[in-house]
Amino acid sequence: MSSTEFTPTGQIQFNAFFQGVNTGTIWKSPESGSQIEFESFRRIAQTAERGKFAAFFLAEGLRMREQNGKVFELDVAGRPDNQSMLASLAAVTENLGLVATQNSTFNDPVELARRLQSLDLLSEGRAAWNVVTTDNAWTGANFRRGGYLDHAERYEHAERFLDVAKDIWAGRDVEHVGKHYSIDHQPQLPASPQGRPVLFQAGMSPSGRDFAAKNCDVIFTVLPNLPAAQDFRADIVERTKKFGRPANDVKITPVVEFILAPTAQEAEEKRQEVRRLQVGPQQAIAFLEQFWGADLSAYDPDGPLPEIDPVVEETDGSRGVAFQASGVREKVAAWREEAAAKNWSIRDLATSQLVGRQNPVAGSYDAVAEQMAEYAATGAVDGFCVAPWLIPTGLDDVVNELVPRLQDRGVYPEDYVGSTLRENLGLPGVR
Ligand SMILES: Cc1cc2nc3c(=O)[nH]c(=O)nc-3n(C[C@H](O)[C@H](O)[C@H](O)COP(=O)(O)O)c2cc1C
Repeated sequence: MSSTEFTPTGQIQFNAFFQGVNTGTIWKSPESGSQIEFESFRRIAQTAERGKFAAFFLAEGLRMREQNGKVFELDVAGRPDNQSMLASLAAVTENLGLVATQNSTFNDPVELARRLQSLDLLSEGRAAWNVVTTDNAWTGANFRRGGYLDHAERYEHAERFLDVAKDIWAGRDVEHVGKHYSIDHQPQLPASPQGRPVLFQAGMSPSGRDFAAKNCDVIFTVLPNLPAAQDFRADIVERTKKFGRPANDVKITPVVEFILAPTAQEAEEKRQEVRRLQVGPQQAIAFLEQFWGADLSAYDPDGPLPEIDPVVEETDGSRGVAFQASGVREKVAAWREEAAAKNWSIRDLATSQLVGRQNPVAGSYDAVAEQMAEYAATGAVDGFCVAPWLIPTGLDDVVNELVPRLQDRGVYPEDYVGSTLRENLGLPGVR
């Protein structure tokens, strides 16, 4: 077998994933911590490190979501800057990787490369950059260039941006005259113990997948089940080989939401309670309004879907969440069919759409450990980004109950194997 072929490692790893703008985190329970205070982040990061998680991973949302021309107040948004947070966490952790989601569309490459390299040096080789292109115009409005790039150009731009960053990290002089900036830069900082920050990527389109297969070390994605993960692996293996890289070089780590309990029945009761707290009546109505493009406040969240048709012109995906406005009529028709077949209310439908995408895995500790062991055996993924629904205690049962069961099955690390994130993820040295 040539070294370019993919060989399953039989292992999985976990990262802790802290969402940006989202509905999945419960903020209104008496047990909920603050998304602003450092204490929330310190506690959950230290729990992750106790469970030998490879990394702590922050998504990025740089602006509150808007709906019908107003700030959308029903989900969690707004928290301190990723790199400031990760630099603070570097001081209270020893082995945990520190992954900052930062977009390539609105930042400047020299400045971002320098800040990421600083995080990598200060953490002694534990930094990573999750490269995203950011698809919403309302984030773009924060920046002097505005929301100016279409999809293809965002990825072209991301390639140039990453080339510049890699040159800077390799200690090379950079002279670049391009469409978006001109750079004449000399190296300033030495390389960290892991050479340069590890590169994550999130973006599911064919161009996004190619970008990852060509340039990155780890893909963060959403894969609802094992067959979807196997298909995705096959696709990424092909793309990675197309770019002349060994197929095992690109790791795949989808998001997962665990709902765990001693027995299956308790886990199911907990799942229902978690869902009830995640998607309240107002969230359910607001979710539908994004697609209907109309005020639906008169509808009963526990009643059937609105019988009126969506107002397509007023629904614009670039200003709302990541959906395609062009497919709204078809989407609504499919939802009506599904809701009728399953006797779903507005809230049931909204719940399935808003939090069903997180790859929810609910079950007894033992059953979930078996399910994870199956992922490890098939080699479909290299690990999971665990999105806790409660901050800061949401990883306690994962670390106390699930991790030891995975270690007993020999599919999860007993300890950190090295001191850098690159080593702990089993990645090759920087070439
Ligand atoms: C799993 C996943 C997570 C993402 N997380 C973020 C994020 O935290 N911040 C952000 O600005 N964009 C995020 N994005 C959006 C990407 O930046 C990108 O703009 C979008 O997915 C469109 O690219 P695509 O068509 O290749 O998927 C994410 C995308 C995916 C698929």
